[in-house]
Amino acid sequence: MEKKNIDWGNLGFGYVHTDYRFVSNYKEGSWDEGELTTDPNIVLNECACVFQYAQTIFEGLKAYTTKDGKIVTFRPDLNGERMETSASRLKMPVYPAKKFVEAVKKTVKANEAYVPPYGSGATLYIRPYMFGSDPIIGVKPANEYQFRIFTTPVGPYFKGGAKPITVRISDFDRAAPHGTGHIKAGLNYAMSLYAIVDAHEKGFDENMYLDPGTRTKLEETGGANIIFITKDGKLVTPKSDSILPSITRRSLVQVAKDYLNIEVEEREVYLSELSDFAECGLCGTAAVVSPVGKIVDHGKEICLPAGMEEMGPVTKKLYDTLTGIQMGTIEAPEGWIVEI
Ligand code: PLP
Ligand code: COI
Repeated sequence: MEKKNIDWGNLGFGYVHTDYRFVSNYKEGSWDEGELTTDPNIVLNECACVFQYAQTIFEGLKAYTTKDGKIVTFRPDLNGERMETSASRLKMPVYPAKKFVEAVKKTVKANEAYVPPYGSGATLYIRPYMFGSDPIIGVKPANEYQFRIFTTPVGPYFKGGAKPITVRISDFDRAAPHGTGHIKAGLNYAMSLYAIVDAHEKGFDENMYLDPGTRTKLEETGGANIIFITKDGKLVTPKSDSILPSITRRSLVQVAKDYLNIEVEEREVYLSELSDFAECGLCGTAAVVSPVGKIVDHGKEICLPAGMEEMGPVTKKLYDTLTGIQMGTIEAPEGWIVEI
């Protein structure tokens, strides 16, 4: 199979049209078989629930070319399970995780020519999503739904790749206590748009959100969970019911313990502790592990000792081990790698 003529090394995190996408419809209480289509457009009624009441959820995972030329995905079962949780919370029908994984495989296989080669620095981002599609005007869930998956080859989420970024402590809140912060709903991202544009205008790369209840604890950023490394080499990561249970973060915790012999603390992390840390990173499918060099809290600059030039040494070990597992150069724990 011949790869597309794409300048893989210069891809940013953007949408590139690929050949096939998967579509399945839910009507009268059940999902149809689903199929691949070449049509990237969706025609919906003006009153579709997704337009009026934002009834939409999504997932994000990647396909990689391994060193020996296989195409693989990383823990897609966990994305399928998280999408089940997201669907239940927004009163949408569950698209079963098993069928989810099959549909991911089918979509990636059909777009094999767009999976970036090993060593190119790019990957194929996979975006499964679901929305309420029939006309709804009183506030209630839709009766009909569409589940779709498209793919797009991507480069680094933050310009500059592994170069440390600057984040600010946000005055805006991301997720209310007992709200929807723990699911991957479009609405969580809609409310972050004002904050991210404002952050960029003021020269910051991302927003670090606090817990809205007390505004004393760190939660996560707009598109990633957070990890810290203490001065004595421990990994600390915020625990909260209102952050997205990142598959990357859960994997890094296991990598730290089982591969690198790093002690891990999953606990509440206070804003007041920031100056105690040696390294900080943002972790997620898109972000992978992106180092943070500086955190700005209302004019007060907290400069991580790891600096603004390169990833801190412990973050780098975590990054290398995780990406080594994903790209097939380090043996993966059982079940983590699913070959297409
Ligand atoms: N937090 C938010 C708000 C996200 O959008 C993402 C991206 O999916 C993550 C965390 C990281 O999750 P994962 O590692 O499963 O991609
Ligand atoms: C992902 O990492 O898959 C996400 O959904 C984050 C988004 C900011 C691109």
